[in-house]
Amino acid sequence: MNVRWLIRLIYFIICVTVSIQSRGATVADPHSYAQPSKVSVKHLDLDLKVDFSQKVLEGLATWSLDRKDTTAKLILDVRGLEIIDIKAVADGPALSHRISPNDPIFGSKLEVDLPAGVNSIRIHYRTKPDASGLQWVGPEGTAGGNQPFLYSQSQAIHARSWVPCQDSPTVRFTYSAKVQVDPALRAVMSAVSEDSRTGKSDGVYQFEQAKPIPSYLLALAVGRLDFKPIGPRSGVYAEPETLQKAAAEFVDTEAMIQAVEKRYGPYAWGRYDLLVLPPSFPFGGMENPVVTFATPTILAGDKSLVSLVAHELAHSWSGNLVTNATWHDFWLNEGFTTYVEGRIMEDLFGPERGDFERRLGYEELLAELKEVPAPDQRLLPDFAGRDPDDGVTRIPYEKGRLLLYQLEMRLGRETFDTFMRGWFTDNAWKSVTTADFVAYYQTKLKPETNVALKGLDLGEWLNKPGVPESAVVPVSERLTKQVDLSRKWSSGEMKTDDLMTAEWSTQDWLAFLNHLPEKLPISLMTELDKKAQLTDKSNAEVAHVWFLLAIRSGYTAADAATDAYISRIGRRKLVVPLYKAILMLPNGKARATALFGKARSGYHPITAGTLERQLQGDR
Ligand code: BES
Ligand code: ZN
Repeated sequence: MNVRWLIRLIYFIICVTVSIQSRGATVADPHSYAQPSKVSVKHLDLDLKVDFSQKVLEGLATWSLDRKDTTAKLILDVRGLEIIDIKAVADGPALSHRISPNDPIFGSKLEVDLPAGVNSIRIHYRTKPDASGLQWVGPEGTAGGNQPFLYSQSQAIHARSWVPCQDSPTVRFTYSAKVQVDPALRAVMSAVSEDSRTGKSDGVYQFEQAKPIPSYLLALAVGRLDFKPIGPRSGVYAEPETLQKAAAEFVDTEAMIQAVEKRYGPYAWGRYDLLVLPPSFPFGGMENPVVTFATPTILAGDKSLVSLVAHELAHSWSGNLVTNATWHDFWLNEGFTTYVEGRIMEDLFGPERGDFERRLGYEELLAELKEVPAPDQRLLPDFAGRDPDDGVTRIPYEKGRLLLYQLEMRLGRETFDTFMRGWFTDNAWKSVTTADFVAYYQTKLKPETNVALKGLDLGEWLNKPGVPESAVVPVSERLTKQVDLSRKWSSGEMKTDDLMTAEWSTQDWLAFLNHLPEKLPISLMTELDKKAQLTDKSNAEVAHVWFLLAIRSGYTAADAATDAYISRIGRRKLVVPLYKAILMLPNGKARATALFGKARSGYHPITAGTLERQLQGDR
């Protein structure tokens, strides 16, 4: 070998080494105090007692450590945790540690001194009743009404309020857990457990998560739950009152799993179960591994809102398998997932449904762009120093999907599917940044020479506000038809009697109602309500849009139903806009304040916090 080749070989080895080392570990996460490049956690063994009377979890968290820098301390994130003691082993001496003052967004830094040779630590701790990642629901907030319910919501940075951890998606760990509950209740976690499916008469549940997960996927629910299988590797946890309805709603789950598997590779998590939460759950769904947590507001009775299942399932690839490295890269989780969700819906229910939902999503994006400040409209925004929960707008979801949709349209499905499959396979079990995506895009698709990608400026998508000119705007004939009806009917060109509402799907209703003017005359509201019983409609999404319209139009016949809806449901997307609309009314502030006063104790801290800021006029 000549010298030139030897130099090339050495250069190549250095490059590969640097690029391997720079993966994950060196990515700085502005939303965590942890320094995983010095000491990182590898495995968690959790032992929890659930005390509903005190609204407290008491626990032992045993972390095994990877001490890359043997002189460094261990740094964990905590928020409002009472640390009782920290030891290397159960009967050993206490390890010295310090907890920094609490930051309202980030909590505290817990710094633990590590003597030589110590490779695991055991933290004895208690949570606070107002832990931001837990909701302790009273019996009145459940379907059965006679037992309490507890659930966690760790994403984005709330795991630290119930488990001392390196609360950053750059860090992955496996976990096992033992959870002790009242034997009348059942415990479920984001991990495989035979116990959860059968129930335990002694109330002691064991869990094993053998796949490495980031902390935001740590999850726990405890309640009067029952389980019903719905497929070879799927089932539903719900209160007995809702179990049958939920099982019927989710029968297509196995078909959905297979639809993704055939395109992007095998499902990696063993089982895929769904858990129906009380209506106060602030989100639609949460992709906790092995068991998706879902709001009961998607139980429409006609499978019309199961795109949420498609979405949370898709996260098993985009998010849980290939994870955003920081919350700035959130679009890699949500944009990819929203894109895959659309493909699942199309596979299962046909292209018309796919087009329809993609177009609805695009319209939501346009509406959101009017509200969100320009810097936060970038796919790669800067949330350093701010609460990552504030980055949860339609932008990462729908602008992200639009970018991928554009790639699909330009490259053709086959080429793009291969690209996506490669992305999931090559990055499996890794945390990835937007820069990783750009590098992958350049390597695999060669945009400089690829004619199909001519004029597509990835930098514009990532770093500029708004939607790039080059975007492919989704169209849906079915939606266009509804928009047309909406215009004709509201302008008096068409009579209420001539609307074929009996044949309309949920999506038809959403399109029709969304495109009506802000306000309608009471006469039209009354006619439509009489024809289609909208005020009594049980579909939570349709009811939401109808109530918005009713508030703006001053259609007081829907007031009582609106107020009941607002106090029963805590899903942020469904209640916050209703409060906003009420606040715009002449006497709105008084009505909104009274409603919030009554409903507040039933809301999750996340929804309550958003509403408090609304009522104070902050946002
Ligand atoms: N992972 C999100 C929920 C989330 C994001 C919670 C960020 C906290 C911080 C979940 O997958 C999601 O996107 N849920 C949506 C439903 C979906 C169908 C768009 C929701 O809850 O509205
Ligand atoms: Zn999502």
